[in-house]
Amino acid sequence: MTDEQKHIYAHEHPESDRRRDGGFTLWFTGLSGSGKTTIAHLVGPELERRGHIVEYLDGDTVRTHLSKGLGFSKEDRDTNIERIGWVAARLTRHGAAVIAAAISPYEETRQQARETVEEWGPFVEVHVAASVEECARRDVKGLYAKAFAGEITGFTGVDDPYEEPARPEIRIDTEQLEPEASAGLIVEKLEELGLVEAGVPA
Ligand code: ADX
Repeated sequence: MTDEQKHIYAHEHPESDRRRDGGFTLWFTGLSGSGKTTIAHLVGPELERRGHIVEYLDGDTVRTHLSKGLGFSKEDRDTNIERIGWVAARLTRHGAAVIAAAISPYEETRQQARETVEEWGPFVEVHVAASVEECARRDVKGLYAKAFAGEITGFTGVDDPYEEPARPEIRIDTEQLEPEASAGLIVEKLEELGLVEAGVPA
């Protein structure tokens, strides 16, 4: 938001800086097929078990609603990430545990999402790491095959950039770890950061 927009918003929403404690955003970034969605859906139930209200903002889902019609140019990807960041911030403000999972290939745009969220609560960046070769081997959606065949252009990791996070709070190597183990490490990190209660028995 520009300063002027912020001023108008604050005027129209006089209680807009009210908030509920406990909110944070867990932001997964990584190549298509790296495991973001799978791990997100293992972490979420664990957070619910510990009393959090969880909301998922998954790239594939968001692109059927909030970002419907957007493509994969840098501009459209940035718009998608800005939207996800904005919604994540609003939900964080209301005390939710937000799990965002989009490729989010650009460092600067992820940084902007971080800043938007951090107005209201912590932002925890998770780099879900797997090589292009491994993601292409998994090729769950068959898109890598199409990208290598030139049927899709501008595919992340093939002929479009992926900027690795410079300082993620946590990096998960999904070539080495099973999804359950990855989810376990993320929950441990959240405990360490004091964002979720530690040692809640299963
Ligand atoms: S982002 O770049 O804007 O963060 P997002 O995570 O929402 O991407 O969407 C990525 C998903 O869109 C991929 O998992 C894949 O299924 C699909 N997709 C279709 N075309 C492309 C492309 N050119 N590059 C990457 N993903 C694509």
